Parts: sequence; C-alpha cells; structure tokens
Amino acid sequence: MKIDIGLSDTQRNQIAEGLSKLLADSYTLYLKTQNFHWNVTGPHFKSLHLMFEEQYTDLAAAVDVIAERIRALGIFTPASYVQFSQLTKIKESLETPSWDKMIAQLIEGHETVVRTARALVPVVEAAKDEVTLNLLAERMDVHEKNAWMLRSSV
Ligand SMILES: [Fe+2]
Repeated sequence: MKIDIGLSDTQRNQIAEGLSKLLADSYTLYLKTQNFHWNVTGPHFKSLHLMFEEQYTDLAAAVDVIAERIRALGIFTPASYVQFSQLTKIKESLETPSWDKMIAQLIEGHETVVRTARALVPVVEAAKDEVTLNLLAERMDVHEKNAWMLRSSV
C-alpha cells in the first residue's frame, strides 16, 4: 500500500535509517545496563543496582517506541543482534569491569546515544517530521539526565 503522509520516500528512508542507528544504540545500551545491574559489586552495590534497573527499564520501553516509529514510516526495523552490532557505535562489555568503570562505560554509552539522536535532528527538521523530532528530543533529554546522574555517582 502506498504511504502518503507528506514525507517523500527519500525522507522516510533517511529518517528510518537514522532511527535504526538510534534503536541499535539503545538496544546495546539496554543490554549493557542490565549486564551491569546483574554484575555490579562493591560499596555502592544497592544504589547502583537500583539506578541501573531504572535506566534499563526506560531503555526497554524506548526501543519499542523507536522501532514502532520506524514501522509507522513504512520501513521494516532491524531487530537482530547481528544487525544491531553493525549499526551501533556502542561497544559491548565482554568483561565485568569494576563499579566505577561500569559507570564510565555507561556515561559514554548515554552520550553516544545523544550524539546519534542529535545527528538526525537536521534531517527530521528539514522534513517537518514533528513526531520523530519529539521522540528525539525526549530521548536526548533522558540520556543527558542519565549521564548527569551517573557522572554525579563517582
Ligand atoms: Fe533485577
């Protein structure tokens, strides 16, 4: 079925491409944050265990919203670990770092997501895609706040 929502095919494809990167970053950060929720040790165990849970719970909800925005634009969404690993700029943690290194890695992860989202803003603004623009603003807000809270925890 033809899609006629006032965005050109090129615009829909470009926006979906950027959102796919945002999805891959968010999914990778989700897994990493849950990893650290499970594996954190040390004097701040309880507070970090809980803060990481709050953050991965937000990410679990966010990936659904991002993927469904891609679908509403008429594009299929990447949805496998292989695709996500090719699209994301966030590196997985294959070891169990100390609690302070976990925080440093998560700060880097949140900042990476913000940059990925921000890179898409000009494309979305040019297309007058307010829906995606709102989504990007909301995600940047959450990740900038999470980065601040993590920075304040060391
Ligand atoms: Fe848990």
